[in-house]
Amino acid sequence: MEIRIFTDAAALAEAAADIFEATITEKPNAVLGLATGASPVLTYKALIERCRAGIISFKDITTFNLDEYCDLPQNDKNSYYTFMQENLFSQVDILPENIHIENGNADDFDKEAAAYDEKIAAAGYIDLQLLGIGNNGHIGFNEPADTFTEGTFRVKLTESTIRANSRYFTDSEMPRYALTMGTGSIMKAKKILLIATGAAKAEAVYNAVKGPVTPHCPASILQTHPDTVFLLDEAAAALL
Ligand code: PGA
Repeated sequence: MEIRIFTDAAALAEAAADIFEATITEKPNAVLGLATGASPVLTYKALIERCRAGIISFKDITTFNLDEYCDLPQNDKNSYYTFMQENLFSQVDILPENIHIENGNADDFDKEAAAYDEKIAAAGYIDLQLLGIGNNGHIGFNEPADTFTEGTFRVKLTESTIRANSRYFTDSEMPRYALTMGTGSIMKAKKILLIATGAAKAEAVYNAVKGPVTPHCPASILQTHPDTVFLLDEAAAALL
């Protein structure tokens, strides 16, 4: 696991964009695993700029998002579908048919989850997976639990996650369930890039990097991945 610490958020985002650029340059039809939340926003901005400048193109790229809320309309302002459209997809040359996000309104969640895993496998698995980390150590919506999860599944969100994310749901109730790639799906990615900023992440980052590998801190499994890089600001790295 490689750890890089930055003093400013813009430099961190450019370093993350460099890693995406290297993957896309080496493999123009790469499969990217994407994340939502505050952590990747500046990285997506940097990727949009590089796409506009003609340095990278998404025209042959395929994407799979980590997770999506259940029972939230796709076009809700807080859906991860909307987040991705606004923060990346509408501003780069990606083909809509190459974008994949779990359908959180599927009639049969198990079937949707299995089909999602099949699509990832059919695409040849993920070349580069971007992750944030929850205050509780979650990756995707893999919440602390007694066992590590495998493939995509429907998860009941923990109180910690509901507390952290309900700030976005100012005029509606935050969903209690989500579909998420499992830790097994994430670990199959060839390269993993985790971004964490801010003091609220310091304990989770410490547990992920220095703690035991345990499903009580799902991100700790990344210690066993052969090609993972953590990009941190000083506040998130404070306990290392
Ligand atoms: P954040 O969320 O980027 O909004 O902090 C990260 C996460 O919960 O995985």
